[in-house]
Amino acid sequence: MTTDDDHAGLKKNLEHLFLDMTQMKSFRQAATIIRHGDGLIVTDTVGNQYIDGLSGIWVVNIGHGNQAVIDAMTKQLQRVTFNMPIGTINEPAIRLARLIADITPAPLTTVKLVNSGSEATETALKLARQYFLQMGHPRKTKIISRYLSWHGATMGALSMSGTTGLKTPFEPLLGGCLQVPPPYCYRCPYGLRYPDCDVACARMIEKVIDWEGPQTVAAIIVDPVMVSAGILVPPDEYLPILRNICDRTNTLLIFDEVITGFGRVGKLFAMEVFGVVPDIVAMGKGMSSGYAPLAAIIASQRIADAFWGKPDEHLEFMHGHTFGANPLSSTAGLASIQQMLAHDMLEHAELVGKHLQQQAQNLYRHEMVGDVRGVGLMMGVEFVTDRQTRESFPAEVKAGLKVQDACKRRGLLLRANPDWIALGPPLISTQVDIDRMLEIIDACIEQVQEEIQDL
Ligand SMILES: Cc1ncc(COP(=O)(O)O)c(C=O)c1O
Repeated sequence: MTTDDDHAGLKKNLEHLFLDMTQMKSFRQAATIIRHGDGLIVTDTVGNQYIDGLSGIWVVNIGHGNQAVIDAMTKQLQRVTFNMPIGTINEPAIRLARLIADITPAPLTTVKLVNSGSEATETALKLARQYFLQMGHPRKTKIISRYLSWHGATMGALSMSGTTGLKTPFEPLLGGCLQVPPPYCYRCPYGLRYPDCDVACARMIEKVIDWEGPQTVAAIIVDPVMVSAGILVPPDEYLPILRNICDRTNTLLIFDEVITGFGRVGKLFAMEVFGVVPDIVAMGKGMSSGYAPLAAIIASQRIADAFWGKPDEHLEFMHGHTFGANPLSSTAGLASIQQMLAHDMLEHAELVGKHLQQQAQNLYRHEMVGDVRGVGLMMGVEFVTDRQTRESFPAEVKAGLKVQDACKRRGLLLRANPDWIALGPPLISTQVDIDRMLEIIDACIEQVQEEIQDL
């Protein structure tokens, strides 16, 4: 007999749920329903165990089941779980804001706590617009981002995103959002080769601002490593060039560090790796390691100052969400960041990340591996039918998705798109764990390559 709580009953009840970007009928046929997590391992309702090679989805940076975080949250649960968000605040939220200000470089000082990465990037957009309004530049409203980027699912965040298939069902989107070609060196949109290209993809943005009129452009938003495009790491000069362009044109530079933040790139933030400090940083995902929904932006002092006027000036930031700065989520964030800092997880992640990047080069032994790229504990592999010409597989082949399926059958969870796979394990992974993950990926690429040849 089936009950609502056993696997068959849960599967049946999936008809009451939409999963993110998932065809529910196919999903239900072989539904994976996670019941338990411990360290790197998650277990489903039929007892299958998986290495969580994607940290959930770039989220569970400190690993599953961290007892210190659970204890801190339990304590907070017993104190208070909600306060009125307009007119009152709670202790963990203030402590978290202070901690974020402490671990980010000057002049970043002032935090707004929200619940998801989409809310964070959208908060950045609204902050940029209201900032320029208050500074006497009401026409500075446009936002420049890159094709292939993903800044989130809400309409403002989506309007800044450049992932065609995820946008078109919802067009028309917010006006004043423009996309420029991304720094996709393996498939340069300008047909150039680095370094002879002189980083044309970055320099072109200044021309775009010039053509649009600098008096109409509020901000450039970039995810320092473009994960949704297949882990595109920009050339070293790219982000410093953007910083200079923003300074010359009075444009705000926004980093979307929703994925790259909190140790993923081997440092706390990608801004440290690339040596560039933006005006606003959006963060989320690894900020609470998934122990509760949590995201934020931090803005520079100059932006914060524009919102710190006399009571009758009404300079307050006209933005907020009921569950933003929630005491339980803030506690989850505080405790999980403290775990990262107290246990040298960042140093460990940097070392293990180097090991990952080195060992991943062995994947070139497979003909269908065109490009292996990454930084820290994020790694992407792009598949091609011909390494010389870099020609992609025909759309129906879906090599990346096939490798992802094969890895899952062998107990490793990954992210994939038809042409690439991505690995992003928790920061607590050891070199032995990484070797095991790469071993599975290696065997699965071999298997898929044989399957494709037989087609
Ligand atoms: C770079 C980036 N920004 C923003 C978001 C949106 O975050 P969320 O899904 O928490 O709304 C994502 C989600 O994957 C992301 O990858």
